[in-house]
Amino acid sequence: MDHPKSDSSGLSRRDFIRLGSAVGIGTALAGAALSSCAKEITTQPGAAKVGPIDNVRLGIVGVGNMGSAHFQNFLRIEGVEIVAVCDLVEDKVKRMQEWATKAGKPAPKGYYQGETDFKRMCAEEDLDLVFAATPWNWHVPVMVEAMKNGSHAATEVPAAPTIEACWEMVETAEKYNKHCVMMENVCYMEPEMMIYNMVQQGVFGELLHGEGAYSHDMRNNLLGSAYEGDWWTHEVIARNGNLYPTHGLGPIAQCMNISRGDRFDYLVSMSSNARGLHEYANEHLGPDHEFSKTKFNCGDINISMLRTVQGKTIYLVQDTNLPRPYSRINLVQGTKGITQGFRDATHANLVHVEGLSQSHSWEPLMNYANTYKHPLISQMEDLADGAGHGGADFIEDYRLIYCLRNGLPTDMDVYEAADWSVVSNLTEMSVANRSQTIDFPDFTRGQWKTRKPLGIIHV
Ligand SMILES: NC(=O)c1ccc[n+]([C@@H]2O[C@H](COP(=O)([O-])OP(=O)(O)OC[C@H]3O[C@@H](n4cnc5c(N)ncnc54)[C@H](O)[C@@H]3O)[C@@H](O)[C@H]2O)c1
Repeated sequence: MDHPKSDSSGLSRRDFIRLGSAVGIGTALAGAALSSCAKEITTQPGAAKVGPIDNVRLGIVGVGNMGSAHFQNFLRIEGVEIVAVCDLVEDKVKRMQEWATKAGKPAPKGYYQGETDFKRMCAEEDLDLVFAATPWNWHVPVMVEAMKNGSHAATEVPAAPTIEACWEMVETAEKYNKHCVMMENVCYMEPEMMIYNMVQQGVFGELLHGEGAYSHDMRNNLLGSAYEGDWWTHEVIARNGNLYPTHGLGPIAQCMNISRGDRFDYLVSMSSNARGLHEYANEHLGPDHEFSKTKFNCGDINISMLRTVQGKTIYLVQDTNLPRPYSRINLVQGTKGITQGFRDATHANLVHVEGLSQSHSWEPLMNYANTYKHPLISQMEDLADGAGHGGADFIEDYRLIYCLRNGLPTDMDVYEAADWSVVSNLTEMSVANRSQTIDFPDFTRGQWKTRKPLGIIHV
């Protein structure tokens, strides 16, 4: 996703289309036809089994663009105590301490003595949860250290850049019985949540196909020092594949019950030439700039096709280095209908449901909001108003804390973190070998057959 307050994702708060009145936290679920099969689950094979934690003592590692946005959210969530904050940059740590004091909370202890100072934080502090919002290569080292020291772990996306790191994350979570959550905020956006609700209620029939993307002109970010030490730019220089798959893939995988009744079987992937960043650097930074002389390894367009063991197909795109409007495609299709987002500048989702929509025609997805608006959105939209990514970042943070405080399995657990994130490494392998078919590891070791769908969550 884009940065929290930015509007280039097209999902500002105004885009939360309001149909029907919002209700407060803890009031009756409004606007959703809840069937018994769609109820929220309370246990899950493979997930950590832990009792409620009334007061969640939190440490945050990495407080740049996203970490600072989560910090802000956690400051206003009941039952969270931000105990420690860690970053390479002392000023960023100090800024968080000031924010806490201004909010009338104690300043968290600061850690800023280099790349592995998070280890000291995990050892010294009594933490229930450690949240990693660092560059990708640090997510797993931070989470593993947290879990070994007795904390649960959460991370920004993608959770892990390699197959090995995915396994390490899974094995550590299992060994220490800890929650290990990848925070995929797109799963908490209003259209995605409504589509999940509709899928669970059978509106689209049997699902067969999905399409997702991270299509976002990031040239200005990647070449304009938007990330500390240009870490993301260096990933694009070094690697070639779909490096950032989870925003487009996550909501579709949830609809398809991946790792909960189905699982990814194999993928094929190919990348185009890399031209966009080189041209942009020359034009905007001048021919003498280091990025104008750099070879960017990652193809401007990466396209992949995934197949599940139950026979569903997914088309997935990464497209970040060329001029273009934002899109995640967000298409889900079944035997009874189809929905797709981002078809025009409004980004509104469209839908076609057999027997309800006019033949061969799209209609606005929100025509169905009275019946299928997700109860979590109804409950939380006012409280989330103004938070990053149309409020979704606040809802995901709130829901994580809600699960910990109520002893519930988290909405996404370590298997989803691994299944969705490993796509980046598998696409690299396929691209490097003439689009060879690459098998997915089964991180659940067979448990995907008995693990239950998420159901319709609420707070
Ligand atoms: N969910 C979304 O919508 C979304 C949007 C943007 C970025 N992200 C993800 O958030 C994460 C962070 O991205 P960002 O845009 O905030 O980048 P950023 O560069 O602004 O922030 C990363 C921070 O981590 C710090 N850091 C680096 N190594 C560290 C270490 N070893 N220990 C402690 N701190 C360390 C850096 O100093 C920096 O402040 C990435 O995983 C990225 O993919 C998610």
